[in-house]
Amino acid sequence: MRAIAEEVQAHMEQASIVHCAISLFPFLSLAYCSSHTDLEKVCQELRSDENLNSMFRLDSKPISCPFVGPPFSFSYNRGHGECKALENQAESCIDDSKLLLKYQACADIQGAESSTEELQCLATWKEGRNMYLLGTLKLVGRAQASEETFRCFLYEKIHKEGKIEYYISESGDPSCNGLTSITEGARNFNFTKEEKEHVRCKYPSWVTQHHDWHFLDGSRNYHFTKGNSMLKVTFNDEMKSDEKVVCHNLEKMHPNDDMQGSKVKLVAHVASGCDTGYVCMIFHKRDGHVIEVQQSSQKSIMPHEACSLDDPSKQPFSTLITSTLHKRSCPKPGRYTVLDLVSSPQLRMPRRQRRFAKALRLSERAWKEESNEAAEGPADDCQNADVQIGCTSSGQNEMIIQESCDRRRNDIAYSCHGSWEEEGTWYTIVSRNRSVTEKETLCVSMRLSESTRELPGKVGGRVEQQELWLSRPRNFCQRGTPDQWTYKLANQGVCEDLMRAASSSASSSSLMRVSVILSIGVTVLCSILSR
Ligand SMILES: *[C@@H]1O[C@H](CO)[C@@H](O)[C@H](O)[C@H]1NC(C)=O
Ligand SMILES: *[C@@H]1O[C@H](CO)[C@@H](O)[C@H](O)[C@H]1NC(C)=O
Repeated sequence: MRAIAEEVQAHMEQASIVHCAISLFPFLSLAYCSSHTDLEKVCQELRSDENLNSMFRLDSKPISCPFVGPPFSFSYNRGHGECKALENQAESCIDDSKLLLKYQACADIQGAESSTEELQCLATWKEGRNMYLLGTLKLVGRAQASEETFRCFLYEKIHKEGKIEYYISESGDPSCNGLTSITEGARNFNFTKEEKEHVRCKYPSWVTQHHDWHFLDGSRNYHFTKGNSMLKVTFNDEMKSDEKVVCHNLEKMHPNDDMQGSKVKLVAHVASGCDTGYVCMIFHKRDGHVIEVQQSSQKSIMPHEACSLDDPSKQPFSTLITSTLHKRSCPKPGRYTVLDLVSSPQLRMPRRQRRFAKALRLSERAWKEESNEAAEGPADDCQNADVQIGCTSSGQNEMIIQESCDRRRNDIAYSCHGSWEEEGTWYTIVSRNRSVTEKETLCVSMRLSESTRELPGKVGGRVEQQELWLSRPRNFCQRGTPDQWTYKLANQGVCEDLMRAASSSASSSSLMRVSVILSIGVTVLCSILSR
């Protein structure tokens, strides 16, 4: 008897559950508390057909559910007939001790309403041929006393026509009573392994060649695993739980799409906690170490609905980079001076340039008033800025933005890491060293515009001017927003010209810069006046 009691104790520690004969219990407590009990007598009272009682440990540690490889579609029966709807789905949660049971309504069957339950697996054991599972089953969105949610399951794994099925019966109360056959529970299920799980696809190789990607805005990270078909998304916001995103199928973007190009559309299964569904994603290859992703904002229940429910090409782009970036040459190298500040009315130009720029600006007043509304730019009281792209290093991979703020000149050096062009606009990933240890990675956009302007007051007077529009580096790649552009720049020449000029001049470099700007200013002014 002592041995049984010890075994009970041991079981309770191991498996969270123990079966005991009911009459054992009064004895057990006595056996531990009193030495005067007649062991023999108590044991004689114990009958072998006594009802088994179940004891569940309330704070037990969950285990992985024994149903391997969700999702499953399932049929169920609450005693009024079988509901076979294909959309009855048992889906995995990130936590593999949980399974989400999504029931669809079956119109002609009593008690077959649509609802969702969360199963959490706590223990499994074997008794003869029978496999048992203990778990809790909670209706999603309803508060229930936890003792009431315990259910016992009897299950069997079956190989049928090359498919794996599970036949499962569920107890009608928080006990394992009455569970004798897999078809005679208070509720029965047949889980069928979904075919769709077998057609897992792979994410594009140009994405998975790096296992880790970071969102430029620092909000989240992508980690690719398991033969390149699984993506784990982690959020830097601790309130958000991780997502498992499994590639489900690749979609053609046009009839001849080989789905290997630099733009790949796919349907993926997303699971976040127990919130699961399908999303449509588009991956854009930008550079070896830069990709962009667009993703539908809603999850669909069925995979074939994912791309039609919500077109991802209308969603904003997320820009992702790898942990190590290589320096690349910057687009549009050259030396520029600011003609105008597009979205920062508080920035002013020095007098020499103000006069020079006045003629150019006269015809643009309407445009400028419009853009003054979108005021967001460098700090107050900053004067003009000069910009050098690719002039200071042999690899042409540095961009320097010079600003004068509070009479102090402020040079910010950025390294270029990869660029791409979309409809005439160049996007470049740049980084700057904020301190010895802290690095900031940003996106800058540029656009060349050739403009011909009528000069007011002079019949037929025109200026032809190539301008470079430049955005302020931001932690996302701005597209088509009204305040996208910060600087409007005029080219002052290619880097080499200025370097040559520097070597032939004995003057200090800052003096040289002034004279170059002045002479170009005069040249442009002369050409304006001569027309
Ligand atoms: C499960 O399948 C078995 C064998 O085909 C069948 O007898 C049983 O009724 C099914 N149960 C449910 C709930 O679909
Ligand atoms: C930042 O620091 C690294 C390492 O010291 C250097 O290689 C890189 O050129 C620096 N970047 C800029 C923009 O100065």
